[in-house]
Parts: sequence; C-alpha cells; structure tokens
Amino acid sequence: MAASSTSDAPTLASGQSVSCCRLDLVGRVAVITGASRGIGLANALHLAVRGCSILGTCTNEASLELISSVLDSEVTQSYKGTARQRPIQLRIKGLIADLFSLGCSALIANQLEEESFNGRVGILINSASDPMSGTIGEMNVQEVQHSLLGNIQTPVMIVDELARRRFFQLNSRIIYISSIRSKQPWSRQVSISNRTHSESGTVLLMYAAGKSAGESLCRTWAQAFGGKEEKICCQHTT
Ligand SMILES: NC(=O)c1ccc[n+]([C@@H]2O[C@H](COP(=O)([O-])OP(=O)(O)OC[C@H]3O[C@@H](n4cnc5c(N)ncnc54)[C@H](OP(=O)(O)O)[C@@H]3O)[C@@H](O)[C@H]2O)c1
Repeated sequence: MAASSTSDAPTLASGQSVSCCRLDLVGRVAVITGASRGIGLANALHLAVRGCSILGTCTNEASLELISSVLDSEVTQSYKGTARQRPIQLRIKGLIADLFSLGCSALIANQLEEESFNGRVGILINSASDPMSGTIGEMNVQEVQHSLLGNIQTPVMIVDELARRRFFQLNSRIIYISSIRSKQPWSRQVSISNRTHSESGTVLLMYAAGKSAGESLCRTWAQAFGGKEEKICCQHTT
C-alpha cells in the first residue's frame, strides 16, 4: 500500500501492496477491533479490496482518521488500479471503542444498526488486545482485572451483544487473533520478581492467559453457533 503523499496527513504503513483478489465479499460487513494499525489494519484492507464493508475500532481521533479517511481512500485507490469499480455499498467507518470501556460492545452494535451496515455482521475479527502482563510476584488485582477486561470480558460481551441483537448470519465468522504465547511462554521473559528479571522487566503471564482464553472461546462459539473451529498458524509471531 502506498503511503499518503502529503507529509502532514496521517498515513498508513508504507510499503504494503494491495493485490486485488476476487470481489467475493460484496454486501458483507466485517467488524475489526484495532483496525488502525498492524494486523487489524492489514485485515481491513484485505477484506475491503474483496468488497467487504468495514467497521473498524480504535482508541483515539488520529486513529479514527486513519480508518475512516486514509484507509477509505487507499481502498478506493486500490480499485482504481484494476478493471473493477469500487462496490457502491462498500463502506469503511472508524469507531472509537476502547476495549477497557464497559460500553464498548454496545457502541459497536449501535453503529452496526446504521443503515449502511444494516444490522448484520459477516465477519468479526478480535484483533485489539491488551499487551500488558505483569511480573510474577508483583501482580496486583487491578492489573489482573484490567487484563481480563480487555482480553476476555470485552471480546465476550461483543459477541454476546451481536448475538443478542441477531446480527450474525448463517455463514458468519468469528476470528480471534491469538499468539504462540498462549502455548509457549517467551523464555527470555519468564521470570519471577526478585529472582531473574527478564530484559523487559515483564512477564507475558496475563497476555498468554488471555490468548488461551480467546482460543477456548472460539471453540465454544463454534460449537454453540453450530459452526466449526479452524486454526490458522503463522510463523514469526510473538
Ligand atoms: N504483532 C505481532 O507480532 C503479533 C503476534 C502475535 C499475535 N499478535 C496479536 O495480534 C493482535 C494485533 O497486534 P498488532 O501488533 O497488529 O497490534 P498493533 O499494531 O499494536 O495495533 C493495535 C490496534 O489495536 C488498537 N487498540 C489498542 N488498544 C486498544 C484498546 N484499548 N481498545 C481498542 N483498540 C485498541 C489500536 O488502536 P489505536 O491506533 O487507537 O491505538 C490499533 O488499531 C493483538 O491481539 C496481538 O496480541 C500480534
């Protein structure tokens, strides 16, 4: 993807290329938490060039601009390089919805009730997460609760809210971005306070636990909704 040409405008990560694929997601809607950067943004771009509308969440105005404006124009540009028109129903919208706010799930669901999204979700991608973890021997209740809220409670409540409002469709997908750390602690970061401190001074204890919970939730959602669980592994993840 090309970076924005104006120096003071917000830009997406440069150097990403958009190879246009089949237009097989026209009319579908994807909700992507954490769509302004990294994996969430890459997913948003990939789905949008296949025709999928995007409701992407973030935490601040600058990131909102990246989704609603910069990503939107990058997608338009990517269609210009092909023989195809950007589908008229394709909508890209950013939404400030912090994982740590208790109203996060309702905010997302309310936005989906807007006419252009029409109260439906074809794809939900839980990408945003709390990377904070804590050090064994130094944990406190607030830190644990914070991690549980961002990495477990809010993803659960988002799915719950969308299910309650019957926004999921027969072939909808729930995607949870996990990490190898759910199974394999980062050896250089496994330390115990007052014994061996890791280089970063933190342990991925709660991060790993949250990712394990997310994988477990996916299995249960798959069974509950009558679908199937698929695991896709990537290399070089952290
Ligand atoms: N990067 C890796 O190597 C890697 C490897 C394995 C797994 N993962 C997992 O992949 C997912 C994405 O990682 P990434 O590295 O692509 O992330 P990233 O580049 O750090 O992007 C984080 C995204 O999440 C949003 N976000 C951050 N805190 C949030 C909050 N409290 N509420 C709502 N949105 C929030 C950010 O929005 P703002 O722009 O507003 O901050 C941004 O859009 C995470 O779950 C991570 O654990 C990453």
